[in-house]
Amino acid sequence: MLFSDGTSLPSILPGPMEGVTAGAWLKILTRHRWADAWWTPFLRISTGVPRRSRLSAWLEPYLATGLPVIAQIMGEDTARLAETARRLHELGAAAVDLNCACPSPVVVRNHAGGERLRHPEWIAMTLQAMKCAVGTAPVGVKLRMGYESSAEFASGIAPAVCSAHPDFVTVHFRTVLERYDRVPGGLARLSAAREMLQGIPLIGSGDLFTPQDAIAMREKCGVDGVAPARGMLANPRLLVDIRQVMRGETPPPFTSQEKAALLGEFVAHAPRHFQLQMAANLYGKNSPEFNAFLKK
Ligand SMILES: Cc1cc2nc3c(=O)[nH]c(=O)nc-3n(C[C@H](O)[C@H](O)[C@H](O)COP(=O)(O)O)c2cc1C
Repeated sequence: MLFSDGTSLPSILPGPMEGVTAGAWLKILTRHRWADAWWTPFLRISTGVPRRSRLSAWLEPYLATGLPVIAQIMGEDTARLAETARRLHELGAAAVDLNCACPSPVVVRNHAGGERLRHPEWIAMTLQAMKCAVGTAPVGVKLRMGYESSAEFASGIAPAVCSAHPDFVTVHFRTVLERYDRVPGGLARLSAAREMLQGIPLIGSGDLFTPQDAIAMREKCGVDGVAPARGMLANPRLLVDIRQVMRGETPPPFTSQEKAALLGEFVAHAPRHFQLQMAANLYGKNSPEFNAFLKK
């Protein structure tokens, strides 16, 4: 995706995942060249604007990969979010993204993340303030289709977002109350969002587990980019596989030797709880491989 300031971001992006997109995950996937950019999980801005040193320490593992970094922030205070965006951009973030999608009850109770969807005019005002703060650098927003109902997108969210002219918008097709439930017609919702966000680069999110899911989303919804998240846990090579299938190639199978070698890298670099999570993701919790790993 190319933005008006000449910044370009890949159109197949690793969706941010709090608790995953950090440390060993960044290092290992970057070393394998399984991602072309990184997107941080949200940084919560509450009582004040974090000092530059704190922001720098937070951003450092992402910047250290040498890949373009989208820094994501969330909060309720427009001025603090705008100033944080300015600092993050000065520290090297290629783009800054406002999270208005997180469904976590703690986050929502504190009027951040997905709760912001109840205040579309706040989203527009905050995006405008962030744009002013970062100059020409790209500013994006992560949305769900609504807080309670996907009808909120047409009635308030889309017009407000369009009025702020963000450089990119990411839409996860569920509502906040749907959290991660199965929802029928996710792609139809995303197609409708595409219609309503005319002229704005749109990244689609939701249930992208295979290359075929990504191709279907691009073809049916006309999105400019895709950002798989949970699918990368079972197949950390998913973004490369998507690119290959889009080129008409067949990705090689992920062999058990490759999985074992990858797990070995996480054993060397990640804490035990994350090693177990990766073993469960790669093999499945009921597999003999996972049970053998548990006993190690
Ligand atoms: C463990 C976890 C943490 C997440 N953290 C974030 C986050 O920090 N910021 C964000 O915008 N989305 C976050 N998401 C949402 C994903 O980026 C994505 O929008 C959502 O999972 C739907 O895509 P998927 O079905 O391909 O997983 C998170 C999702 C998961 C499962």
